[in-house]
Amino acid sequence: VPLEGLTTFGLRSTAEAYAEAATTDELRAVLAAARERNLPVHFLGGGANTVAMPRVKGLVVRVTMKGFDARRATDGDVLVTAAAGEVWDEVVSRTVAEGFGGLENLAAIPGTVGGAVVQNIGAYGLELAERLESVTVYDRASESVRTLTREACDFGYRHSIFKTDAGKDLVVLSATLRLPGEWTPVMTYKGLDEALGGAETTPAVLETVVRAIRAKKLPDPKVLGNAGSFFKNPVVPKVVARPLLTVHQSLVAYPLGGARVKLAAGWLIEQAGFKGYRSGPVGVCENHALILVNYGGATGEDVERLMKEITAGVEAKFGIALEPEPVFLQ
Ligand code: EPU
Repeated sequence: VPLEGLTTFGLRSTAEAYAEAATTDELRAVLAAARERNLPVHFLGGGANTVAMPRVKGLVVRVTMKGFDARRATDGDVLVTAAAGEVWDEVVSRTVAEGFGGLENLAAIPGTVGGAVVQNIGAYGLELAERLESVTVYDRASESVRTLTREACDFGYRHSIFKTDAGKDLVVLSATLRLPGEWTPVMTYKGLDEALGGAETTPAVLETVVRAIRAKKLPDPKVLGNAGSFFKNPVVPKVVARPLLTVHQSLVAYPLGGARVKLAAGWLIEQAGFKGYRSGPVGVCENHALILVNYGGATGEDVERLMKEITAGVEAKFGIALEPEPVFLQ
C-alpha cells in the first residue's frame, strides 16, 4: 500500500498493510486482525511528523476518529474535547471562531489532534501541554479505554509518554483541552509584538498574525514536501553553551531551568553551511535551515543520508549532537 499521499513529506514508501480506524471498535478489530497475522502495528495521524522509509513492515493504522465539543465549565474555563483524527488546525480555528482564546499561538500547525498530543506541539511561546487537561487512550495491553491526566502524559519539549516504551501500547483516542476563562495573550515569542504592530490584541488577531508569520517562514507541504522542523533545538548544559556563545556572538540561545540552554538548531545548521544545500531529490530549505524538503520523488533513505550529513557537519563545527524531531516509520 503506497503511503506517500498520507504524509506531508510525500516520500516514496509502501506499507505491508494499511487500515483506517474511525471508531474505537474499528481500532479493536484492526488490532485483533494484526495480532492474528503477527504484524507489528504503526499509527499515523496527519503524517505531518513522519519519515516513511521505503518499505514499512507491518500494518500502518491511520487514526481517523472525529468529534469536537467545546463547553464552558462551571469555573468559567472552556473545556474542548477533540477526537484524535480531527485536524489540529481546525480545532484552533473553531475555538477562536466561537470566541474561545487560548490556542491561537498554535495555529497552522499541520497534523491531527492525536499527533499534536504525541508530539506535544509547540510554537510561538506555547506548548500544547500547557492547555491540556487529559487524554483518553486505548491501552492495547489491557484492551481497555482509560483517561490519563496531563501529569501522567510526562510531557516535555516535543516529548510525551506516547513516544516512550512506557507508552508504546497507548493509542490516543481524544484530548480534552482547558482554555482559560479569562484570556491573556501569550506574547513571549519575540517576533509577535512587532508583527502585531500596535493592533488591539484579540485571539482572532493573534491567530492571523501567527498564520502570517508561519506562511512567510515555513514551506507549505502541499507545495514542497516537508515535516516542519526536522531537528529539535538541542538542549545543553550551560557550561557547554558558554564557550560557544563567547566565540559566536550571534548564536541564538534560550535559557531554561536547571542550568540548561536551548540552542537554535536552525542557526547551527545555517552556520555549518547547509542552508539551501541540496543533495539529489532532498535539501535544506532556502529560507529556514531547520526544515528538510522533498523536491520530488525522494525516499526516506535520501532524507536519512542528508540527516547524517548535517548531523556530522554540525557536530564537527560546534561539537553539538542534533536529534531528529520526526518519527521514522520502517
Ligand atoms: N535561525 C537561523 N537560521 C535559520 C533558521 C533559524 O539563524 O535558517 C535562527 C533564527 O534567526 C531565530 C532562531 O534560529 O533566531 C529560531 O528560529 P525560529 O524562530 O524560526 O524557530 P525555530 O527554533 O527554528 C521552533 C519550533 C517550530 C516553531 C517555532 C516558533 C522546534 C524544533 N521548532 O523553531 O516548530 O514553529 O520555534 O515557535 O522547536 C516544528 O516543530 O515542526 C516547528 C515548525
